[in-house]
Amino acid sequence: MPFGSACSATRNHKRIGNPIVCYGPSKRMGYPDNRVEEYGMKKTAVVTAGTAGIGLETALGLADAGFFVTVVGRNADRGAQAVDRINAMNPSHPARFLPADLGSLDQVRALADQIAAEHATSGDPLTVLVNNVGAMFPEPQTLDGIEASFLVNHLSPYLLTELLLPTLTADAPSRIVNVTSRPCFRTR
Ligand SMILES: NC(=O)c1ccc[n+]([C@@H]2O[C@H](COP(=O)([O-])OP(=O)(O)OC[C@H]3O[C@@H](n4cnc5c(N)ncnc54)[C@H](OP(=O)(O)O)[C@@H]3O)[C@@H](O)[C@H]2O)c1
Repeated sequence: MPFGSACSATRNHKRIGNPIVCYGPSKRMGYPDNRVEEYGMKKTAVVTAGTAGIGLETALGLADAGFFVTVVGRNADRGAQAVDRINAMNPSHPARFLPADLGSLDQVRALADQIAAEHATSGDPLTVLVNNVGAMFPEPQTLDGIEASFLVNHLSPYLLTELLLPTLTADAPSRIVNVTSRPCFRTR
C-alpha cells in the first residue's frame, strides 16, 4: 500500500509499524493548515465501526476537536444512537451515520464511492480516515469466499484506504489511522 511517511506515532503504534500516516505538511511539522479558517472549509473524518466501542469514543473525540464525523457501521439503530450522542456533545458539528458491512468488499467499494463523490461535490477535504473496524471469529469462516478475519481486519481497510487515497491526498494534510490489535502478532 503506498502509504505516506509516518508523522506521529505513540509508543504502542511504533511497535506495530506505521499505522498513523499523513500526507502533506502537518501542524506538528510547523505548517498550520489555515484553509478551514480562511475558506470556511470543514474538517471531516470517517470512522469505521464508529457506532460503538473504541470507534465511537474516537468519533466523540474528533467531534469535540471540531471535525464533522461520519460513523460507519451495519446497524442503523446503533448508528442513530451514536449520531445523537455525538451531536448532543457538539451540535455545531453534526455527525452522520453511513451504513456498510465492512465484511463485504462490494459494500466497501460502494461506501468509498459515496464518500469520494460527496467530497468531490462539496469541495470539503477528507481530513482523517480512521480504519477502526476489526473482528475476531471464534470459528474459521469465510465471507465473500475469503477467510473472514483476513477480510475484515486487513483487506477491507486496505481497500477502503486505497479507494479514498485520491480524496485524502487531494486536500492534504490528511491522516490515516489504522487501529489494530495485539493478536496480529500471533498470526501464522
Ligand atoms: N476492545 C479491545 O479490548 C481492543 C483491544 C485491542 C484492539 N482493539 C481493536 O480496536 C478496534 C475496535 O474494537 P472495539 O472493541 O471497540 O470493537 P467493538 O466494540 O466490537 O466494535 C463495535 C463496532 O464495530 C462495528 N462493526 C463490527 N463489525 C462490522 C462490520 N463488519 N462492518 C461494519 N461495522 C462493523 C459495529 O457496528 P454494527 O454493530 O453496526 O455492525 C460497532 O460500531 C478493532 O480494530 C479491534 O481489533 C480492541
